[in-house]
This record gives sequence, structure tokens and C-alpha cells, in this order.
Amino acid sequence: MNRSLSLVALIAGVGALPLRAQFPPDSLVNLQVLPEDTEVRELIGIMRGFALGLGVRCEHCHVGEEGQPLSTFDFPADEKPTKAKAREMLRMVQAINGEHLANLSERSDPPIEVTCATCHHGLNRPVTLTTVLLQTRADEGIDAAIDQYRRIREQYFGSWTYDFTEATLTDAGQQIGRAHPDDAIEFLNLNNEFFPESPGIYLFLGQIYAIKGDTATAVANLERSLELAPGNPAATRVLRQLGRD
Ligand code: HEC
Ligand code: HEC
Repeated sequence: MNRSLSLVALIAGVGALPLRAQFPPDSLVNLQVLPEDTEVRELIGIMRGFALGLGVRCEHCHVGEEGQPLSTFDFPADEKPTKAKAREMLRMVQAINGEHLANLSERSDPPIEVTCATCHHGLNRPVTLTTVLLQTRADEGIDAAIDQYRRIREQYFGSWTYDFTEATLTDAGQQIGRAHPDDAIEFLNLNNEFFPESPGIYLFLGQIYAIKGDTATAVANLERSLELAPGNPAATRVLRQLGRD
């Protein structure tokens, strides 16, 4: 073999390689769910919708480094499990829109389409804040769940991602009220910090202290609830059951 020739070939070969990968790409080469003739510009719009809907960046599903130019990414590669999951999600969304919603006897006009954001609302794993907190309580205890609420509130308040109305912590308390009344009280006290004038929270605190057999504290909370919402039938009823009306 002629070494100098092969060297020349090698150098020439390297020079001819299309090293200047570009973004946006000229063509799309590995679409398996979206129509193959999807235009590049349209596809990028869909991808931005994915990223926004899930609160992630391109590298969540694609091979590439955060902060590096998109021209260095390998978008056609199927290496990341999240990309495969996203394909399955796409098929699901197509079935929801194309079959199930299409089968309704009447539709809104214009029809409402389900998108990634319908469920994900900015979260990679679409769970409610109540679910997140109850999971943390179960795994790591109530103090960890309380800390987590404060952290998440700090980070996300005012965004579309989590519900920071009083319903979130009340719901968490309600779900564990009978089995773990002390932890439920912690959730409600935290709620009370943010909604100090809520009759519903005092009512529920009253009910839990009643379950615990602490009648004096139950009555104090129920009376506070009635001060804030005079005549409330639920608070009146529990007070009567406790023999204090
Ligand atoms: C949640 C996962 C997810 C995110 C985030 C995401 N993509 Fe994608 N992307 C996919 C999936 C899935 C496909 C393949 C679709 C198919 O098979 O029809 C794809 C395909 C592509 C393709 C086509 C590659 C080819 O030639 O086949 C490009 C380009 C692309 N994405 C760019 C982006 C950009 C830019 C971003 C960030 C703005 C992004 N993607 C964010 C999941 C994602
Ligand atoms: C009907 C509700 C719904 C819609 C619409 C939806 N998803 Fe999901 N998605 C889920 C649920 C629920 C999970 C969590 C499944 C689990 O892990 O139990 C999930 C999980 C995922 C995951 C995996 C997250 C991880 O890290 O494990 C990806 C990626 C994803 N969805 C992408 C998408 C994309 C992209 C779209 C739009 C094309 C979409 N989803 C539309 C409900 C939905």
C-alpha cells in the first residue's frame, strides 16, 4: 500500500467531511411519528412546544450539551429514553385528538385540542403539588414535606405549574387526616400561615382535633371558623356534636 497516497486520501477525506453541522437542519431524517414531510420550521415550533410544556430544554430528549450551540446537537439520534417516551406520548396525543375527542357527539367550536401542556403544565412528571407533598411525607416525613412546600412556593409562585391556593394543603391534610392527624395538622398550620383568614382551614383543624379527642382545641378552632364565616353549618354541626353550641 502506498502510504503517502493513503495519507493524502485521509487528509482529503477529512477536509470533505461536512463538519459544519447546522441548525436549523436542511432536512429531517428520523421522524417516526410526525409526518415525514413535516417542514423544518414547523417541527422546531412543535419542539419548542414540547420544551415549554414540560419545563425542560432540548437536551432533556436530545444528545447535546446544555449551553452549547444547537448545531452541535445530534437531533436524529435515539439514544435518550425520554425521546422514546415522548414518541409514545405523541402517539397518545394523536389518539386522544384524532379518535377519542373526534368521537364526541358534539365539540366546542373551534374544537379544543389536547397538547403536551394540557397535562404537563410545565412539569416533566405531571403531578399535582398535593401528590408531590404526600409522597415526600410518606418517604421522608412531614418536616421534609413542609420544607419542600416552602421551597417549591419560593421557586414557582405565580407560574402555571403548581396550585398555590389553599386547596393544595387542605387536600393533603384531608387525605391523611384520619390515619395521621398530627401530620395533617402540620399541613394545615402551614396553610394557615399563607391563608390566615380562611374559615375552611379552622373548620378542618377543628375536625382533626376532635378526631384526636382534644375537645378544647377543637372548639377554639371551630369558634374561630365561625367568627370568620358566621352561621357556617358544618362548623355549627361539629360544635354541636362536641356538645358546645
Ligand atoms: C420531550 C422530548 C423532546 C424535547 C424536549 C425536544 N424534542 Fe426534539 N424530538 C423529540 C422527538 C420524540 C422527536 C422525533 C419525533 C418523531 O419521531 O416523529 C424529535 C425530533 C427532533 C428533530 C428532528 C430530527 C430528525 O432529523 O429526525 C429536531 C431537529 C428536534 N427534535 C429539535 C429539537 C429542539 C431544537 C428542541 C429544543 C427546543 C427539542 N427538539 C426538544 C423529542 C423532544
Ligand atoms: C393526558 C395527559 C398527558 C399528555 C397530553 C401528555 N403527557 Fe407526557 N406524561 C403523562 C404522564 C401521566 C406521565 C408520567 C408517566 C409515569 O411516569 O407514570 C408522562 C410522562 C412523560 C414523559 C416522561 C417523563 C420522565 O422523565 O419519565 C415525557 C418525556 C413526556 N410525558 C412527554 C410528553 C410530550 C412530549 C407530550 C405531548 C406530545 C405529552 N407528554 C403529553 C401525561 C401526559
